[in-house]
Amino acid sequence: MVSFSRLALFAAAITGAVALPANATDAEGFGLLARSGTPSATGTSNGFYYSWWTDGAAQATYTNGGGGQYSLNWSGNNGNLVGGKGWNPGTNGRVINYSGNYQPNGNSYLSVYGWTRSPLIEYYIVESYGSFNPSSAAAKKGSVSCDGATYDILTTTRVNAPSIDGTQTFQQFWSVRNPKKSPGGAISGSVNTGCHFNAWRNLGMNLGTSWNYQIVATEGFKSSGSASITVS
Ligand SMILES: *[C@@H]1O[C@H](CO)[C@@H](O)[C@H](O)[C@H]1NC(C)=O
Ligand SMILES: *[C@@H]1O[C@H](CO)[C@@H](O)[C@H](O)[C@H]1NC(C)=O
Ligand SMILES: *[C@@H]1O[C@H](CO)[C@@H](O)[C@H](O)[C@H]1NC(C)=O
Repeated sequence: MVSFSRLALFAAAITGAVALPANATDAEGFGLLARSGTPSATGTSNGFYYSWWTDGAAQATYTNGGGGQYSLNWSGNNGNLVGGKGWNPGTNGRVINYSGNYQPNGNSYLSVYGWTRSPLIEYYIVESYGSFNPSSAAAKKGSVSCDGATYDILTTTRVNAPSIDGTQTFQQFWSVRNPKKSPGGAISGSVNTGCHFNAWRNLGMNLGTSWNYQIVATEGFKSSGSASITVS
């Protein structure tokens, strides 16, 4: 339903009666002006690789801190964004630690996250998530016990979706901790990636032969939230 205030603003805009201030923001959320925040970027920060990607539809801020620390916040219940720190290239078997604070409000994941090429695969080892369990929209292949917890193993196919090689069709591999680590505050863990990658291979889920980046990522989708994570 279109609200009266929106109709009023629309009518005013047509007649030119609204004088928008210079550099007006979309504070009312009407979508009349583009949202913004930290532009997408990759690089190195204090000895760690970082990747920050946003489709620009949310108001999102990403900040690299010292060492393996990063923080981000996002709002607007719109768009898709993912950022974090780790390594490039990734490796088969690194033990990745993380600790910090994770406060999603809506759909969001906190994961060891990365890509391979040959073939192009996007992978997630999901430690915690917000309102949406990614397992619910994926094909379950099995489960594995790693680092003292049970993870569901799943795959999905992404068709004409954003990737490290532009718009592509590719497989996503998932391990989703079951139960998830509690979001909404302090969080930490240790992920033996080799435990997951071996389990995936035993189920016929073969990562590519060329390793791209491997990070501990916070992702948001049509949601809001904040995270401050240190990777080691
Ligand atoms: C608007 O933003 C531009 C670019 O950030 C800046 O140069 C300019 O001073 C701003 N204008 C006002 C009125 O704030
Ligand atoms: C988001 O992070 C930026 C940079 O740290 C900060 O200036 C801003 O106040 C934060 N916004 C919210 C809503 O927490
Ligand atoms: C990661 O955590 C494990 C288990 O707590 C610890 O043995 C290891 O030294 C940590 N590694 C790093 C790089 O912090």
